[in-house]
Parts: sequence; structure tokens; C-alpha cells
Amino acid sequence: MDSNSLDLVSPYLFKYKKTNFLVKDKLRPTDIDALKHVETRPTDIFLITYPKSGTTWMQQVLVQVINAAHPEWAGDASNRALVPRLEGRTVDDPFRERPDPRIFGSHLPPDLLPKGVKDKQIKVVYVWRNPKDVLVSFYHFAHSWVLLETPHSFEDFFQRFLDGNVYMGSWFDHVREYHKAKDQLDIHYVQYENMLKDLRGEVVKLCAFLGKDLTDEAIDHVVEMSTFENMKTDPKANYKDLTESNRYIKQTMRKGITGDWKNVFTMAQNELFDKVFKEKMSDFPLTCTWEIKQ
Ligand code: A3P
Repeated sequence: MDSNSLDLVSPYLFKYKKTNFLVKDKLRPTDIDALKHVETRPTDIFLITYPKSGTTWMQQVLVQVINAAHPEWAGDASNRALVPRLEGRTVDDPFRERPDPRIFGSHLPPDLLPKGVKDKQIKVVYVWRNPKDVLVSFYHFAHSWVLLETPHSFEDFFQRFLDGNVYMGSWFDHVREYHKAKDQLDIHYVQYENMLKDLRGEVVKLCAFLGKDLTDEAIDHVVEMSTFENMKTDPKANYKDLTESNRYIKQTMRKGITGDWKNVFTMAQNELFDKVFKEKMSDFPLTCTWEIKQ
């Protein structure tokens, strides 16, 4: 299908089944539908996030946990190869043979996931982050990833985010839809801010969910490998290959904090955000962490 027949949201994005995909990418509606039929195994693990919510971080944690539980599993491979994006076409073929347990990354909403995720009760790790920081991180990322439209201004990007007119669509829909589907999935929720507050505690809970019995030393090692400082210098973890090949203009490891939105939002923007948040999320049972007091 050429780009003329796509439902364009902007010259860079097309909408399909309520989600926004990249015009410049190869993925087209028939490919998206085909993902429903991707073969899954009971041992697979799906890492699911809305963009900029801590994907790279949890990817590193998962890789370290699985490698500790299954020595030699990771070999020399980078996290991008070990956790291929289900809907991605820029990484190695996501469906190729890999040693079990296979980890897949995805930003897709629950309705577009492979059928097997629900039918076989495959383990899903869902990382979510307060949407004000997601917005700011996304804004910077949109200046970095060449497939995304460079924002005209913060104001403009802010409005697009609220309207869900960004890559992958609305944060509000993503978070709500996963929560709605949670009883049908074997899903473990992780809050980005909780990882910042107590990474070790979150690793312990994750290991329990995955059924991986790690020694205290092994857990310490996972934590050590997954700090912001370590990941910043670990080329297997920080997508260095993408910056080197100019697919990302800037580092993915930007600030790694909570509350950066306070440095960026105007008072009026914050009020508008709160109003929209209240409208869309008033009946949502989970609570966002907007800042972490030092
Ligand atoms: P910022 O842009 O706010 O710094 P994703 O991987 O989903 O694209 O999310 C990227 C965000 O996660 C970036 O946020 C990045 O800095 C942050 N991040 C990545 N690794 C991290 C870590 N080890 N600790 C804290 N934040 C991390």
C-alpha cells in the first residue's frame, strides 16, 4: 500500500485501528494485522510500553535477569537484538529463531498483539510513567529519531500529545486499554518512578513474577548494570549503534529523572494538562507519581 491510501494524521504518521504508525517505516496495515498471527511460545516475555516510558531501562533489567537465570543466554548480543520490537522493521527480524526465553518489545495496544499473548497467558511486563514526563521525553526524542517529525514548537507538540496525534497515539488510551485488559492477560505492572525510587525492590518483584530465582548477588548485579550511569556508557544497552548510524541524532539516555516537566511546562500548559488528565482519567484506579522529593 503506498502512502496515498493511508489515513494520514500528518505527513509523518498514519492512523490504523486507533494507533499512529510511521509513514517512513515499512510497516503497513496488512503487516500490522499479520502480527496477530505471530507464533508465540509459553516461555516468551513481552515488554510493553507507551513510548518514552522506560522501555530501554526495563529492557536492560530483563536482559540481565534472564542472563543471570540462563547463563550464556545473551552472548555478545546487544539489547536491541535480544529484545526485538514486535512491530519494528529496523532491528533484526523479530521472528527469527532465538534461544528461549524470547523477549519481545512492543508499543502496540492490547487489541493488536499476537493472539497467543492472551490465549497462552504469556508473561507481559507493562512499564508506565507519568505522562507529563513522557511528553517532555517524547518532545526531545522527536528531535532525535529521524523517522519522526521534528516538532514545530513545544506548544505544538504539547497539543498533539494531548490529542493523541503522536507516534503510537494517545498515552491516555494506551494506559487505559491495558488496564482494562489486565484480567485477560498475565501482566505485571511496573511504574518508572518506582524503579527510580527502589530499583532493587522492583527487580525482586519482577523476578517473582517471571519465576526466576536469583541469588542476592545476582540481583545486586542486575541493579548495578541497570543504573542510569552504567547504561549511559554501555553500548549494548543505550542504542549507541543507532546514534552512530545517525538514525538517532541524540542520546536516548537523556536525564532519567522524574519531574523534568516542571522545567518545561508553563503554568497555563500545566493547568490545561491537569484538566485533560482529569477528564480522561478520573475513573482510573492507578495513581501517577508526578515528582519525587529528594
Ligand atoms: P528522559 O528523556 O526523560 O531522560 P524509552 O526507553 O521508553 O524510550 O524511555 C526513555 C526514557 O527513559 C528517557 O527519559 C531515558 O533517560 C530514561 N531512562 C533510560 N534508562 C534509564 C535508567 N537506567 N534510569 C532512569 N531513566 C532511564
